[in-house]
Amino acid sequence: MSKAISGFSKLSKQQKIEWLAQGYFQDAEAAIALLKQYHNDDEALQKLHDEFIENTVTNFYLPLGIAPNFTINGKDYTIPMAIEESSVVAAASKSAKFWATRGGFRATVLSTEKIGQVHFKYFGESQKLTTFFEKLKPKLFTATGDLTKNMQKRGGGILDIELRDKTNLIEGYYQLHATFETVDSMGANFINSCLEQFSKTLREEAPVFELFTEEESHIQVIMSILSNYVPNCVVRAEVSCPVADLNEDKNISPEEFAQKFIAAVQIAEVETFRAVTHNKGIMNGIDAVVVATGNDFRAVEAGVHAYAAKDGHYSSLSHAKVEDGIFTFWLDVPLALGTVGGLTTLHPLVKFCHEMLGNPGAKELMEIVAVAGLAQNFAALRSLTTTGIQQGHMKMHLMNILNQLGANELEKQATIKHFEKNTVSHSAAAEFLTLLRTNDPARIEEDFLR
Ligand code: MEV
Repeated sequence: MSKAISGFSKLSKQQKIEWLAQGYFQDAEAAIALLKQYHNDDEALQKLHDEFIENTVTNFYLPLGIAPNFTINGKDYTIPMAIEESSVVAAASKSAKFWATRGGFRATVLSTEKIGQVHFKYFGESQKLTTFFEKLKPKLFTATGDLTKNMQKRGGGILDIELRDKTNLIEGYYQLHATFETVDSMGANFINSCLEQFSKTLREEAPVFELFTEEESHIQVIMSILSNYVPNCVVRAEVSCPVADLNEDKNISPEEFAQKFIAAVQIAEVETFRAVTHNKGIMNGIDAVVVATGNDFRAVEAGVHAYAAKDGHYSSLSHAKVEDGIFTFWLDVPLALGTVGGLTTLHPLVKFCHEMLGNPGAKELMEIVAVAGLAQNFAALRSLTTTGIQQGHMKMHLMNILNQLGANELEKQATIKHFEKNTVSHSAAAEFLTLLRTNDPARIEEDFLR
């Protein structure tokens, strides 16, 4: 039977839930009960969440963790991380602590320019279009005056507008390529509104331009939209210390550690299969803070990976070297973030996370987010080049396995103790739990926890 429905958006929330539960679940009552469990009884709060998107049926939670001990440009931070993956927060915290005693993290915003484009088709003489654009350009600034007024007061606005000839790629394809400064806002709405005004002015002015023939004046605007590729909105995060100070692990000398670490980064610089996983580790840190601070992680992800391929092949975002006995590890990453607008003041937990960070401006948030990425990458490479990743990861994942297997508190404690000295795997945990359960529960404490 078809499950297509018309007029769905007009149903009440309760009707939508009923429709979903009856049509897609064997146990409709259990489905409804689950949705209700995640519903918030604070009516105003629930309404706020319901109105973020359409057709909401409940809330979908992610854990919010905090990673303390970050020192960035001499200032201390506890960083909020919203993420479901075991060991990410622990790894960030470990890196933070490691570098706090070695001068901390340094971060610098290198540039803050955003980009938007009007894509259009024109099939006339290209020189005439250039002359038209020269006349059009001041009108584009005037026509967006109302839109840019407030942004200009805050120190931002439209930086420049260029005509770009793309006819070598597609016949008749040109762009208005505009650059923007959006200060503390991510700027998507501002940029898109300006672009749509550009497109309107372009369409109005073309028919009255004296040099265009009737045919040439029919400029066809295809679309107007910001670009999430922001190669000129980049932040650098960095750590460094004498090689001799990389002395945390008794099983490897600091010199060998530095050499293996740099080799691991070099591999990610030249080998795409490794680069993707290497950068994924960086995004573990970046996305978690981007989500916690209410920013658009899809935009960040798309832009970051395009940047990683900017030289023609997909490569590592981070780099490492030893020079004059000093180990340096750094990361350049494009981040279009906002600390005003969007969800920043609306979502109570997002607001909470901003306050935890001292209500930073966008530039400071770029620095914090890049540092979270670098910290995560350091932790991953450190494990990979020494103990291997699974030791730490599976220890953290053990709790997920135990929850899946329905372990009670005592069983959890006993299993965690057992795996302090044994290798964790799903089957090993299941086997140990079975063994535990064959024992008299009263004796677990005695036999396994002493
Ligand atoms: C796992 O989420 C991330 C890592 O695979 C990153 C890396 O390999 O560098 C550990």
